[in-house]
Amino acid sequence: MGAAVPIEIQRAVDALRAGRLVALPTETVYGLAADATNATAVRRVFEVKGRPAGHPLIVHLGAASRLSNVAATPSGAALAIGEAFWPGPVTVVVARRSGSVAAEVSGGRDTLAVRVPDHPAALAVLDSFDAPVVAPSANRFGRVSPTSAADVRRDLGDDVDVILDGGRCALGVESTIVDCTGKSPEVLRVGAVPVEELSSVLGQFVSVRADAEGAPGTLPAHYAPAASVVACEPESFESTVQELRAEGSAVGTIGADHVCGEAHVLGQPHDAAEYAHELYHWLRAADENELDVVVAVLPAGAGLAAAVRDRLRRASHARPYSDQ
Ligand code: TXA
Ligand code: MG
Repeated sequence: MGAAVPIEIQRAVDALRAGRLVALPTETVYGLAADATNATAVRRVFEVKGRPAGHPLIVHLGAASRLSNVAATPSGAALAIGEAFWPGPVTVVVARRSGSVAAEVSGGRDTLAVRVPDHPAALAVLDSFDAPVVAPSANRFGRVSPTSAADVRRDLGDDVDVILDGGRCALGVESTIVDCTGKSPEVLRVGAVPVEELSSVLGQFVSVRADAEGAPGTLPAHYAPAASVVACEPESFESTVQELRAEGSAVGTIGADHVCGEAHVLGQPHDAAEYAHELYHWLRAADENELDVVVAVLPAGAGLAAAVRDRLRRASHARPYSDQ
């Protein structure tokens, strides 16, 4: 007999069983969870997020050993990643086992994105629910991901049935997504686990798909606050802030050693981990302070810095809020 399930966890599990939506804390960002086998519940996730149907969801499992329940003969790379990193912030794309989850989950594709999150509350829910759960980030499509229960409440309000409060997310950026369906694994989204670490664990070079951290201008708008975001190199920080101030914009700044006159200091990250942990929090603070523009210094280096650069570049290519 298992141990008694805490009441909060039980409430979340009951809601999932009833086809309702649950905001679930994970180590990366909060997810908007629903029963992956319930097509109606999955459709509601798309609806609440305002997400196009062709944009597939990540399936969350309680243990790596359950991968073969949803994946048709997972590749060696997928199994190795699961073994090395799960529970943890890596998502693998595998061939979908037909009938395992609602077809809507992967937007009609024959592949499925899967991970095991590393958060005690999420694992308790997944364990007790004992079936696959979809959980895209719990924000409206294209906006900033939530890293606290309060963020979710502010964004989604009554559209989410239960919010499980697991505190601030430890990492603050989304999982690294690795396509394991081809000959060699390829990163589709840089994220919390550095590409270099994947390469070293798998003992082979893992490439990043060309458009995953692509050239400015080619990136789809994503991870964006209402304020516009200008991502810049350290050298151009000061002139950028001054130009924007001269135009009369209310400017907020993010950068370790970068503070400029009348601009509102949103954050001064001392390393890439702190930058990742606080980034979405600072972007949200820009909106709370009704700033027009955020000038953010791009962090240098590999690992988490690459994930932060990716998110900043995507945020900086968003259309103005009023167009959304
Ligand atoms: O850290 C995370 O991954 C968070 C937490 C909540 O687990 N989830 C998350 O989900 O970021 P979401 O839905 O916001 O992002 C999922 C990404 C999308 O960019 C989607 O295109 C990609 O995963 N994806 C999902 N299924 C896919 C598939 N079958 N093939 C390729 N990409 C896929
Ligand atoms: Mg998202």
